[in-house]
Amino acid sequence: MDSVDGSVDAVVRPKVVLGVSGGIAAYKACELLRRLTESGHEVRVVPTASALRFVGAPTWSALSGQPVNTDVWSDVHEVPHVRIGQHADLVVVAPATADMLAKAAHGLADDLLTNTLLTARCPVVFAPAMHTEMWEHPATQENVATLRRRGAVVIEPAVGRLTGVDTGKGRLPDPGEIFEICRRVLARGVEAPDLAGRHVVVSAGGTREPLDPVRYLGNRSSGKQGYALARTAAARGARVTLVEANTGMPDPAGVDVVHVGTAVQLREAVLKAAADADAVVMAAAVADFRPAAYAEGKIKKKDGVEAPVVTLVRNPDILAEISADRARPGQVIVGFAAETDDVLANGRDKLRRKGCDLLVVNEVGEHRTFGAEVNEAVVLSADGGETPVPHGPKEALADTVWDLVVPRLA
Ligand SMILES: Cc1cc2nc3c(=O)[nH]c(=O)nc-3n(C[C@H](O)[C@H](O)[C@H](O)COP(=O)(O)O)c2cc1C
Repeated sequence: MDSVDGSVDAVVRPKVVLGVSGGIAAYKACELLRRLTESGHEVRVVPTASALRFVGAPTWSALSGQPVNTDVWSDVHEVPHVRIGQHADLVVVAPATADMLAKAAHGLADDLLTNTLLTARCPVVFAPAMHTEMWEHPATQENVATLRRRGAVVIEPAVGRLTGVDTGKGRLPDPGEIFEICRRVLARGVEAPDLAGRHVVVSAGGTREPLDPVRYLGNRSSGKQGYALARTAAARGARVTLVEANTGMPDPAGVDVVHVGTAVQLREAVLKAAADADAVVMAAAVADFRPAAYAEGKIKKKDGVEAPVVTLVRNPDILAEISADRARPGQVIVGFAAETDDVLANGRDKLRRKGCDLLVVNEVGEHRTFGAEVNEAVVLSADGGETPVPHGPKEALADTVWDLVVPRLA
């Protein structure tokens, strides 16, 4: 049984295989190993020979309390090349090198880790880390697509400092974030990641509509619900694009993040990402109106002059637009309705007007929902369905949304 901090029942310790391949980020896997063992998981580390050039076997063995081998020729009487994978509840490869992704995609089995990947029938998570050029190479991208199509969860690398002086996409996400993804994948059990091979777009946060260089019209949306949607989708195997507006939160691991400020920018980013998306979930609070004019200099108060009147113009209705003009047939569109009164009646009306497939209706207020870790909602569907989601973590609501999206995917 999982607890809130991710620790597990001491009697039924989930068996995790931590595969480590030969990237400079191998040292970060020590932190992931600690998190897994300290939260009660039984971890067997299977490094590659190259990984041991970065972090030695004594470190893995001491931290895991288990033997460490890289080839299939040790302890042969226990047939480890088969048993380790067969008995695992989860295999996570972090970092996964370009070489390891290629071997896994092609079913090579020339060491203990690649054998384990072939014998495992449990969920498999890859956390790739490499230079941007290696990540973007069509060979690597095709290998990643193959692995995702087969049901593996491949976490998008983070953007940031790489080996040496280079910066770009290819960094291993924070070990704490990889741990969270492993926890979510384990919690779903042997169920195949049901968003594997899918691309989903999630918007999160609240837009800010500038009045002058220092002021804006904004809203109270924190972005936590959108982040929960992005994280849960990644743990269910999706390639996720998160269009983020003014949340101030660090990028979640394993998703592509596009940062925007205004409703117009958010529209542009969502339309671009939606072009090849299977589902779009519009959790961001997008301003309905923006100031008609932007003052290039700070608006000053002047003695004897009345306060300025701000004229507003309508912002584009992104949810209605993407629902009416789907970028691809069968694309599933989900909207959010934040209501303060007549919540369900207003929600049904909004679902009809917007033309989306699902609408998550929740009651909001100054001290309700916005910024909270919990939510309570009803998910309305265009076919008349109504799914109440009781008060609970935003992740639980996110999972319910994906549960409703999956059967609607073409
Ligand atoms: C200093 C150094 C750092 C490296 N970092 C990475 C890396 O981050 N990602 C990667 O894919 N390969 C990296 N490589 C190349 C791999 O080590 C090489 O492809 C190796 O064959 C991988 O073996 P393995 O996949 O069996 O672990 C690095 C090599 C060196 C010498």
